[in-house]
Amino acid sequence: MNYKTIMCDVLVVGAGGAGCRAAIEAASHNLDVIMLSKELLGKAHTAMAEGGYNVSLGNVDPDDNPETHFKDTIVGGNYLNNQKLAEILVRDASERVFDLEEYGAVFDRTPEGKIAQRPFGKQSWRRTAYASDRTGSEIMVTLTEAIRKTSVRVFDEVFATKILVEEGRVAGVTAIDLKYGDYLVFRAKSVVMATGGAGRIYEVTSNAQLDVGDGYGMAYEAGCELIDMEMIQFHPTGQCAPPSAKGRLVTEAVRGEGGILLNNKGERFMKNYYPEVMELAGRDQVARSIMTEVVEGRGSPDGGVYLSIAHLPKSIVEFRLESMIEQFEDAGVDIREEPMQVSPTCHHFMGGIKIDEESGTNIPGLYASGECTGGVHGGNRLGGNALADTQVYGALSGESAANFAKENTHTGINQDVIVKEFEKLEAMLERKEGISPADARDELTKLMWEKVQIFRKEEDMQYAVKELRRIEKDVVPNIKVDVRVKRFNPGWHQAMEFEHMVMTARMVAEAAVIRKGSRGAHYRVDADPNDKGYYNIVIRKGEDGKMELRKEDLVITKIIPP
Ligand code: FUM
Repeated sequence: MNYKTIMCDVLVVGAGGAGCRAAIEAASHNLDVIMLSKELLGKAHTAMAEGGYNVSLGNVDPDDNPETHFKDTIVGGNYLNNQKLAEILVRDASERVFDLEEYGAVFDRTPEGKIAQRPFGKQSWRRTAYASDRTGSEIMVTLTEAIRKTSVRVFDEVFATKILVEEGRVAGVTAIDLKYGDYLVFRAKSVVMATGGAGRIYEVTSNAQLDVGDGYGMAYEAGCELIDMEMIQFHPTGQCAPPSAKGRLVTEAVRGEGGILLNNKGERFMKNYYPEVMELAGRDQVARSIMTEVVEGRGSPDGGVYLSIAHLPKSIVEFRLESMIEQFEDAGVDIREEPMQVSPTCHHFMGGIKIDEESGTNIPGLYASGECTGGVHGGNRLGGNALADTQVYGALSGESAANFAKENTHTGINQDVIVKEFEKLEAMLERKEGISPADARDELTKLMWEKVQIFRKEEDMQYAVKELRRIEKDVVPNIKVDVRVKRFNPGWHQAMEFEHMVMTARMVAEAAVIRKGSRGAHYRVDADPNDKGYYNIVIRKGEDGKMELRKEDLVITKIIPP
């Protein structure tokens, strides 16, 4: 088995907002840093983030401060957040937004020239900084330019498949060059996982194609602990039609700027659910309200409800929601005049790799940041806290990984483990009989959408667990690829991703079964009233290779009244 070995001090796996920020930070320590980008650099999911970045600058509402941001984050997270991690988020969000400005990001301004801030759901003040409705894109463009000014070596279109652990600490990763099919081993003194989320395990999602849960799958296999994987955020407003655009994000900024939700009777139905905050209730709350309208027959023709901003001055819509105008123009809807049809879409994983206050995992030398981690956002993330998370924890993980790399040498390496991994990938190409990755994905994403969804019940989730165990046992080893070449073969790449998708889906479903009460985004129609849900669920691969789940006490630093 031929493979090439590449050495570095710090390896960053993933090149979205968190990965780029981690690489920039690590490189500032004069270390040899490599960043792996599964797509061409810049084509990360972060670029699809629209509405904004939460930071308590007080530029519009002077009474805002990090403490209020903290409180909102904890209340929004339904008290499941690791409060130490949430404290870091709100503390460092401002420094990191100024870093972005220094790198060249241009945020919209107030009349006085300060960074403008808009209201987002379940927050006490206008705190979401923005660049129209393409904030993530502004941040990604800025970060990719900033990366080019550093010594970071970027490997575009390289897909990591396995985390290597030797001598009790991280050793690097195996990977494949997606262009030529070459097998690669990256050896590093420390590694940062910044691999994003896994919206693509659901049939309807706002996520980019690459968000399939590679990081969760790899971390689990390597022995990492993961936390609260059952907590999936369904963004209330995804585009409903046409089918090719189903699930595409319709930014919360539409509601932040004054958009209203209507049912097919023209009724502003949020008054029946959350009359005090209406459309700016928590995302979990708005998503459930919309689905209730749809299920009870008050929905729109394409299975959603209406979201209207036709009452706002056109100039506001044109200036602050310019991408929304274009997005709906493609669907034949002029949002300045007509309502949009929207319904929930899988958007964000609150759960993920368990990290400590240094962004470290339970494997020495292995760090993680951004959406692939869990704990910061608890049971429900506030809109706007994800972009802040990428920058705060991106920088922190880069710093911690750099410090570890300065104090440690490379581990030894086990050739057998590497060869076995590459032989497994090669076998997919050689298999003559089996299941195509596209069919396997369809089965998995439909199962998750139907059985581990917004309204959950025991029987559905047990069914999903049973099916996912079967898929893991019978389908994963029988995935075959139709085109048997290594160069430019997306079918082969999808086959590689599928194993991670199944493992991620299993963690979600198995944890969801354990949590018998409703909390945050995990809402059970058959909730056990005795299970108030004030705990985290930690998952890891046991010594016997089986999935172990345990409940753990919450990390609390302050008592926050509801
Ligand atoms: O709705 C949005 O613009 C999404 C923002 C977020 O998820 O933070």
